[in-house]
Amino acid sequence: MSVGGYSAGLSGAADKRVFGLVRMVCDAVMVGAGTLRHEGYGALRLDERRRSWRRAAGLPEYPPLVLVSSRLELDPGSAMFTDAPTRPVVLTHGGSPADRRRVLSQVADVLVHGDAELDLPAALAELAGRGLRQVLCEGGPHLLGSLTAADAVDELCLTVAPQLTGPGPGRITAGPPAAVRSLRLGHVLAADDNLLLRYVRG
Ligand SMILES: NC(=O)c1ccc[n+]([C@@H]2O[C@H](COP(=O)([O-])OP(=O)(O)OC[C@H]3O[C@@H](n4cnc5c(N)ncnc54)[C@H](OP(=O)(O)O)[C@@H]3O)[C@@H](O)[C@H]2O)c1
Repeated sequence: MSVGGYSAGLSGAADKRVFGLVRMVCDAVMVGAGTLRHEGYGALRLDERRRSWRRAAGLPEYPPLVLVSSRLELDPGSAMFTDAPTRPVVLTHGGSPADRRRVLSQVADVLVHGDAELDLPAALAELAGRGLRQVLCEGGPHLLGSLTAADAVDELCLTVAPQLTGPGPGRITAGPPAAVRSLRLGHVLAADDNLLLRYVRG
């Protein structure tokens, strides 16, 4: 969902806080190229308080951004690459444009898994081998649909905001049909008329 075309318009103070906290505790932040382009992602930053929490927890100061794309139409001169405090990772497959892979490999680690489409389980296994086990996916719907189809979603943080709006971009998953994956409600926070729901694998 979105307000004025952007998800930020839906997000109240509590949702922003949780958004920042899950970034603080994760090993990597994964985003689909459609969301990166639409939302205009910059370099991923955390404030000093959150960086010091990560240092105390034995984590690197910043989680890397993990970008997922087939077409690789990503500008290597954009801030998400040039200002990144940690070298980003690009996940793609062997059918993506080889020249774009070469260009992007100057500013990011480009990991190729799968011949004609991304082999997400293999890509996630390589991330885990690099110590990136808790991967926070910030969307969008096509990426979440692929992760659901690959049965790679362990938790879902879903915020219900008290705003009637529309039409929006659709549902939280998109793409080819995927098997039904059941989750159970882990906990509920209520703040300023918002419901912050955390579902976990059943
Ligand atoms: N409300 C919210 O919390 C929220 C959160 C996130 C996004 N959104 C909204 O969602 C909309 C974007 O939707 P979307 O479905 O286009 O987002 P998306 O999933 O981020 O982007 C789709 C693109 O990501 C890449 N991609 C995703 N899965 C892939 C896979 N398995 N293998 C290879 N590439 C993959 C492809 O990029 P290439 O085209 O480069 O190949 C694909 O075209 C925007 O309006 C955004 O604001 C809302």
